[in-house]
Amino acid sequence: MRYLKLICFVSAVFIATATNAIESPSLDLGKSLFEATELGTKQRSCATCHAEGKGLEMISDFSDQELKDIVNACIRDALDGKMLAIDSQEMDALTGYIRSFQKAD
Ligand code: HEC
Repeated sequence: MRYLKLICFVSAVFIATATNAIESPSLDLGKSLFEATELGTKQRSCATCHAEGKGLEMISDFSDQELKDIVNACIRDALDGKMLAIDSQEMDALTGYIRSFQKAD
């Protein structure tokens, strides 16, 4: 019985670590970028205006390409920041993260 518990614990840790390695880094990066005032020059982040995904419920209507262009428009106009390269890891992470706010259609 004691061994069984140990095996369960070890497997749980293993699974947690493995899942983390696959999914989390980019979602974590996306979340940090979403909350980062460093993306712009106005002491604002995406979260200032889109707290808890406000206004981002309908983004399932957009393709990834369209979404990236819109995100860049918000970085440029709303944050007064420097746009991200379309194929950058940061852009992928940020758009991936905000997809988590979209409602299924
Ligand atoms: C100063 C406030 C403000 C900030 C900061 C801001 N946005 Fe926006 N965002 C808006 C407004 C206003 C709209 C247009 C809303 C509309 O038309 O419904 C919008 C629209 C969007 C849309 C399109 C939503 C849709 O369904 O049409 C996306 C995606 C988006 N913003 C992402 C971001 C991201 C990512 C950031 C951070 C890089 C960001 N926004 C920062 C105000 C802001």
